[in-house]
Amino acid sequence: MTETYHHEPPYRIGVIVGSIAASSINRRLARALMALAPESLECSFIEIDRLPLYDRERDDAFPEEATALKEAIEGSDGLIIVTPEYNRSIPGTLKNAIDWASRPGGSNSLTRVPVGVVGTSPSAIGTAVGQQHLKSILSYCNAPLMNEIEAFIQYPDGLVDDDDRITVESTREFLADWMRAYDGFVRRVLTVVPQD
Ligand code: FNR
Repeated sequence: MTETYHHEPPYRIGVIVGSIAASSINRRLARALMALAPESLECSFIEIDRLPLYDRERDDAFPEEATALKEAIEGSDGLIIVTPEYNRSIPGTLKNAIDWASRPGGSNSLTRVPVGVVGTSPSAIGTAVGQQHLKSILSYCNAPLMNEIEAFIQYPDGLVDDDDRITVESTREFLADWMRAYDGFVRRVLTVVPQD
């Protein structure tokens, strides 16, 4: 049987990092993930560090940074969000970006966009609780979520080297599997969910 996809690969995947710290371990992990992407995924960062705080009174006159965020998401076939866990939830910077992207009412840029969530923490929790919060938010925003494989990554010192390579083989293989699973997930969503 011939499979037909709404979009043929390569798929344009926007990668959002929930931390804006220059030394972010989540950004390091995101770069390593991007290096593991199969050829069918063209990954590029979508930055959220210049967004003002969301203000609903600006819904009629969006700031240009927020318009750029919405356009970048709408120009993507899928999103990968790589985020730290802050106080058992997500960083305010990431929630702020989601709030902008979801507005104004009737113009939610996240709707039907297939999302994969990953995160890393120095602790054994590996961002599991923060990811559950994020999935709850994204679910409300009508974004199809990849539920399997989950990726709660504990970050020992040096996990990602300066060449964006994961130094622990088992973690590297796991994350390569995760990227392949995400690729399959994007294909399935784009096949069954009308994007227009
Ligand atoms: C943290 N950290 C943290 N870690 C964790 O596993 N669960 C948590 O709930 C929190 N909470 C938390 C709150 C705040 C305000 C900070 C600054 C930090 C530690 C966190 O995992 C660690 O700082 C990571 O290095 C943050 O990720 P980036 O910024 O390096 O990507």
